[in-house]
Amino acid sequence: MCGIVGYVGQRDASSVLIRGLRLLEYRGYDSAGVAVLTNGDFALRRSVGKLQNLEDLLAESPATGHSGIGHTRWATHGRPSEANAHPHRAGRVVLIHNGIIENFLALRAELRANGRDFSSETDTEIIAHLIDGYLSDGDDLAAATRRAIARLEGSFAIVVMSVDEPGRLVAAKSATPIVIGLGDGENFVASDIPALLDYTRDMLFLEDGEMAEIDSSGVRVSEFDGTVVERDPRRITWDPVTAQKGGYKHFMLKEIHEQPQAIIDTMRGRLLLEDGDIFLDDFDLGKEWWKDVERMDLIACGTAWHACLVGKFFIEKFARIPCNVDYGSEFRYREPILDERGLLVVVSQSGETADTLAAVEEARRKGVRSAAICNVVDSSITRRADAVLYTHAGPEISVASTKAFVTQLTALLLMALFLGRRRGTLSAEECRELIEAMVHLPSPLREALALAPSIETMARRYVKAENFLYVGRGLNYPIALEGALKLKELSYIHAEGYPAGELKHGPIALISETMPVVVLLPKNGSFAKTLSNMKEVESRGGQIIVVTDVEDDEIDQVARDVIRVPSVHPMLMPILLSLPLQLLSYYVAEHRGTDVDQPRNLAKSVTVE
Ligand code: G6P
Repeated sequence: MCGIVGYVGQRDASSVLIRGLRLLEYRGYDSAGVAVLTNGDFALRRSVGKLQNLEDLLAESPATGHSGIGHTRWATHGRPSEANAHPHRAGRVVLIHNGIIENFLALRAELRANGRDFSSETDTEIIAHLIDGYLSDGDDLAAATRRAIARLEGSFAIVVMSVDEPGRLVAAKSATPIVIGLGDGENFVASDIPALLDYTRDMLFLEDGEMAEIDSSGVRVSEFDGTVVERDPRRITWDPVTAQKGGYKHFMLKEIHEQPQAIIDTMRGRLLLEDGDIFLDDFDLGKEWWKDVERMDLIACGTAWHACLVGKFFIEKFARIPCNVDYGSEFRYREPILDERGLLVVVSQSGETADTLAAVEEARRKGVRSAAICNVVDSSITRRADAVLYTHAGPEISVASTKAFVTQLTALLLMALFLGRRRGTLSAEECRELIEAMVHLPSPLREALALAPSIETMARRYVKAENFLYVGRGLNYPIALEGALKLKELSYIHAEGYPAGELKHGPIALISETMPVVVLLPKNGSFAKTLSNMKEVESRGGQIIVVTDVEDDEIDQVARDVIRVPSVHPMLMPILLSLPLQLLSYYVAEHRGTDVDQPRNLAKSVTVE
């Protein structure tokens, strides 16, 4: 959830940058910085922690000038520190970046071999070095940036300046948003519209694969290959709330689409690809705490409870620690067996859910270690738990949880891999394979989201349904539960989730021509068994909706609707499969005309028992 702001014009650049960064503050960050062109060189000011720290630094040591770039950072490659904060400087260049550069190790090795030194642990700094290197070949800033981005794999939005071209910003976008604000004798660039609404409502949006050269009098947009793009600006008439919805009809739809970025934000700074290890320095339960954990209790409510069910699979598989999963409201009243060899982990988006909080308090009373996986910084649960692993999903405004859920899954996987590596139950090799798959996950997630128009059409066929079944197996069974919960919450259609193998033990009696059954059918060890369950439903006339990554005519013959998703590592399938199910619920509800963002009778944060 990094924030980007850039300015070129006549105003005091530092003030514009800080104001823009303030308006992006709700997204969260761990450090911030600005670079302002002052007397032919850059004044670089960076600090860890709150934006106020950066403002204090600027008050002590002003950066005066009329063009500059600013950034708020969530640590990705490398811990939160001043050296790792953006902007990054390399030679004549300063640069800010959102996203992850997937091939940064190879690029860094190449740059090192060419005699380049690095002052940070970030993937970002390599982009600055690449561009500076191409400037030395005689390229101008736009040409050097073009050459550098041709070398990058991954997702990025960058804004870069060079001492040689004062008053010029170059921005480039691939998968991470960039918006350009047009003023009179001044122009702006940002990662998000709200950062610019105080200054202008005329905006140009970069598409993936596009660059912009921006100075105070104009903007030139081109594709990465240099082809000039003519694009008319759009006038943003949105009120601040719509601006925050990013133009989507509902917060929920915006948050569904934010998920590839949200899981990047959860992984940031925590993946050590080279070592095949996980880095959780903000999660500290004491010296070598992992050694004597003999059992774990995962406690949560609602959607977060479904995340715990998947988390049990992850932890038992990779760390070989037996796990119990319970609802907060059940756990606290059943005299749970807790002792000092256990670890209680609560999972909560808000950090305020009363029953989940009570579980942490129960652990404290009994002298048992507790940890929280949480989204909201400094919430009640995070203050009570002994350690916190933040999900960094950014604010989730829709009552029905989407991005908080997939980031909880991601955080639980990180925890499982971390424990597995420390306890010797997971090899560096296996861990590296998973990390690699995690780094690449945002692309298939985006492909799954691109199915939205076809899911919207499909959803029309089910608006009149009164009941739905969802079935899955193994670690995808909780995703069936979550899919059913989402449909209930949003559309008020009765829905239930079952392990596919349980169908014949009761629920099959419900199957008729009026019963849609959503079958989660990923390619894995239980594919054939789930396929037979699906045929049991077919022979009883049920309307089958399959979500699968398998191309197979048999599936198409049996199913009424097929949602075909990309293949990912089987351990990441629960994350991927969640997306089409969220979209299905969203569109069924939309067609039924319910209040998607604030469904009846529900609250985002349940602080009563
Ligand atoms: C409420 C919300 C759910 C959420 C649950 C737990 O019921 O409507 O979406 O899953 O609380 O909330 P938490 O903030 O603890 O994750």
